[in-house]
Amino acid sequence: MSDLQTIDRYLQQSQPKHLESLKQLLRIPSVSADPTASEAVRAAALSVLDTLSSAGLHTELIETDGPPLVYAETPPVPGKPVALVYGHYDVQPPDPLDLWLTPPFEPTERDGNLYARGSTDDKGQMLTHVHGLAAWLASGLELPLQVKFLIEGEEEVGSEQLEKYLLRPEAAEKLACDVVVISDSSQYAAGQPAITYGLRGIAYFELHVDGPKADLHSGSFGGAVNNPAVALSKLLSAMVDADGRIQLPRFYDNVRPLADSERNMWQQLGFSDSAFAQQLGVEALVGEAGFTTLERRWARPTFDIHGLTSGYQGEGGKTIVPAKASAKISFRLVPDQKPAEVAEQLKEFVKQHTPPGVRVRVVDLHGGSGVVVDPHSPFIAAAQQAISAAFGKPAVLIREGGSIPIVAQMVDRLKSDVLLLGWGLDDDGAHSPNEKFCIDDFYRGIRASAHLWGALATVG
Ligand code: BES
Ligand code: ZN
Repeated sequence: MSDLQTIDRYLQQSQPKHLESLKQLLRIPSVSADPTASEAVRAAALSVLDTLSSAGLHTELIETDGPPLVYAETPPVPGKPVALVYGHYDVQPPDPLDLWLTPPFEPTERDGNLYARGSTDDKGQMLTHVHGLAAWLASGLELPLQVKFLIEGEEEVGSEQLEKYLLRPEAAEKLACDVVVISDSSQYAAGQPAITYGLRGIAYFELHVDGPKADLHSGSFGGAVNNPAVALSKLLSAMVDADGRIQLPRFYDNVRPLADSERNMWQQLGFSDSAFAQQLGVEALVGEAGFTTLERRWARPTFDIHGLTSGYQGEGGKTIVPAKASAKISFRLVPDQKPAEVAEQLKEFVKQHTPPGVRVRVVDLHGGSGVVVDPHSPFIAAAQQAISAAFGKPAVLIREGGSIPIVAQMVDRLKSDVLLLGWGLDDDGAHSPNEKFCIDDFYRGIRASAHLWGALATVG
């Protein structure tokens, strides 16, 4: 029997055990944005560490000023490439809770899917590599290359601690690798796997607008003072013009234009605007003039509002001029835009557009640059073999609009290539209620991972 046949047989038998290990991790509410959840965040780290050390890897918990980093490695294999798996054990907040059909941290199987916060993003996808690698060791096979793991607990809030760790002198040596392997994205569609060769970056901010020193009766005072909620609305709506162009000064100066070859390649994907609109439950799609929906989502910068707070939010009416208003906003960035430059541009824009009678503060929360890698790298060719074996067809090459803030820095610091192998689906509900992961995609992802180690070892 060949190594891969041995592995496939082992994986087939291990499916119940693998699903159980995912459920166990999903029961831990590791919400990195919630300061009261820090114990659960740590518990998730320890659980991942334990799974890796039980599989026989040498493991290490790297302490930081926030959630710990989970590091693991197999022994070096001279003359062969080194792969580093990156993933995250933290999850987004589960709110709004009342929209979940089953509780977010009680993983539940329905229609071939596993429902829980973090199922697809990223606990399920990340675990595919833990189990895919463990299959080699459990089958008593000689692993043909060295594999390292770096799993963090702050991806969903901007990877601040990992960013600091990467600057430590010992980090470059410990994490040295030829290729970073990440499964934290999606297939192109159900039954059509994808390899993602680009991600957008992000720059995230809060805007705080302060007006009168207390809420005011809008009958007595309205019309004579600037209403912070109105001022904030105007400020936000001035950020994008009618053609979907962002109005910050110099915002487009460093935007890397889309190559014609990419536009042509994406044309071949047969994307349907109407099916997409229907999937999302919207009547029309909007976006920057002159670009298709895929181009707008994958390769153009955007502005979004994530949360708005001001005034009275309870039942019924209350007639006030609120004393303050605030918004959580972000810009998705493309290569070669830098989050720090966008922060400067935003501050300048706010200064120019602040009306009299209110004060506006910009709080810079976090950011990360976008990445685009060579879609024709030998690592991508190797991944194609592994994906074809597990998913029954080769992957299409796509970019995606989401951000994994640390990737650009890892690639830069480690001088490595990156493989973004997404096993999720667009309708998995990442960051949304009723997040799910297709259980068969979990198993296919594990199989693709196991095959990947053999294929990567042949890249010379
Ligand atoms: N898994 C996503 C990134 C992603 C989403 C890649 C969609 C490809 C397609 C990741 O966990 C994530 O959501 N990141 C955040 C980062 C942010 C909070 C700094 C994001 O993109 O919003
Ligand atoms: Zn993720």
